[in-house]
Amino acid sequence: MSNPPERSGDDLGGSHMEAESNMSDGVRKYVEAAQKAMEKRNRYIRDVVKKWKFDTIAVHGLYSVEEALEKNQGSVIEPIYMSTSQAWRDSDEMEAALAYLIPGWAYSRIANPSTGYLEQTLALLETYGTDVDATCCATSSGMSAIFSATEPLLAMEPQQTGPWNFVSARQIYGGTYMLFNVRHPQMGAEVRWVNNPADIDEWNSRIDDNTSFLFGELPSNPGQMFFDLKKVAALAHSHSIPLVIDSTIATPALLRPFEHGADIVLQSVTKTMTSSGFGIAGAIIAKKNMPYKSIPWEGQNDYASWLKLLPNRDFGPNLSPFHAILTLNDLRTLRGKVDYLSRSSMKVADFLSHHPKVESVEYLGLPHHPLHELASKYMWLVDSEYDDVYNMKVNRYGHLLSFLMKDGHKQARKVLDGLNRIWRATDLGRIKSIANIPTISTHQQQGKESREEAQIPDNLIRLCVGAEHPDDIIDDLEQALAKA
Ligand SMILES: Cc1ncc(COP(=O)(O)O)c(C=O)c1O
Repeated sequence: MSNPPERSGDDLGGSHMEAESNMSDGVRKYVEAAQKAMEKRNRYIRDVVKKWKFDTIAVHGLYSVEEALEKNQGSVIEPIYMSTSQAWRDSDEMEAALAYLIPGWAYSRIANPSTGYLEQTLALLETYGTDVDATCCATSSGMSAIFSATEPLLAMEPQQTGPWNFVSARQIYGGTYMLFNVRHPQMGAEVRWVNNPADIDEWNSRIDDNTSFLFGELPSNPGQMFFDLKKVAALAHSHSIPLVIDSTIATPALLRPFEHGADIVLQSVTKTMTSSGFGIAGAIIAKKNMPYKSIPWEGQNDYASWLKLLPNRDFGPNLSPFHAILTLNDLRTLRGKVDYLSRSSMKVADFLSHHPKVESVEYLGLPHHPLHELASKYMWLVDSEYDDVYNMKVNRYGHLLSFLMKDGHKQARKVLDGLNRIWRATDLGRIKSIANIPTISTHQQQGKESREEAQIPDNLIRLCVGAEHPDDIIDDLEQALAKA
């Protein structure tokens, strides 16, 4: 599949410019200055930022005092560049920037400096503690991130004999299920489901020569499915295809899939990353240099930047600067928040698992959960060993959990309707506790049969534990359960 591009304008790095030798002196001047600036930035990342702990990166990203003073009137907080477009010093700079020979942002549908601050921070957080080099493209929703990242992997190349298929864990968010089960097949691609993702042989049995990528959600929403990331990554690579992981529920505070071999990480940034609930956003974070057979040739060197600057230039799903800065502000305290929310969730899960009206609780943190041991291999609170409260590595499991009512759907509805402080909404990742019944909301449209195969019964209540005191969350659940 990996042939040089035949489509004009799809090459990141200036195929629009005639041969490099035709570059005018004026353009060359800008290119050389940009190269020096990039070298300086790379040194700053290597010598300074990469040595910081997770929290420091989350707070600062690449926005420095120097940048604030030189370019942003000393603004301590990253400015929101509410401008559609960038002006150029002269025609040479304009030509160099529009040929993507120098960094710039030209037009906010394609790129914007405020969105860039978020993208840099996300790429650094997802690669934290590894030597993986990755870039990020922030998008207008989690779904647009999933669509943007997977659609080019299914594009037919001229020399291809049969259509692509792709292999996905069946336990995924309902919207992703619809994209995979309805939209992608409309392009001629076949989705092949893995019913038990913890079984590596089942993954293997679905792959053939026309498989484009493997996909999974860790942990899954709402069922808390988990699988052995390292093994699935090794399987993907043995077929020269990428492993794509939606890591929304874990966030990089608990799991960084790159560390275990994943190639593309997707985030519904809407969720825990923007826990305040101010906006919808998504992100694609991709490893650089992915020479896989299904990745279009033009995108192999830097997939996320290619998506951002080329396909997304044409489709237009990139994130607005306003939302980027709202998210960035939430993201700064991600680790501490996820720790607190996870500890509260553990208490709530423990309470529910002892309640006589509750049949079972799906929370990976519970020691008797069948996937507890596997999840515990992967889900650690980042940097807890440097935290003077813990001084050691501690497992944390996030703030999404589900519980099943003993007497079926009617009882589940009664509990949901009986909640006072916990909000009834199709949302998760919030600073406020939120509950729903997936079969009548988030996973309604995917149909009964597929819900059954994904193990989402109608007596299941999904609960996302917020930052209220856990005793108050438990009180609310207790009084709602008493009404059922
Ligand atoms: C795991 C997961 N991925 C992706 C999405 C889609 O994200 P968005 O709502 O930001 O489009 C969701 C939404 O609930 C989700 O839970």
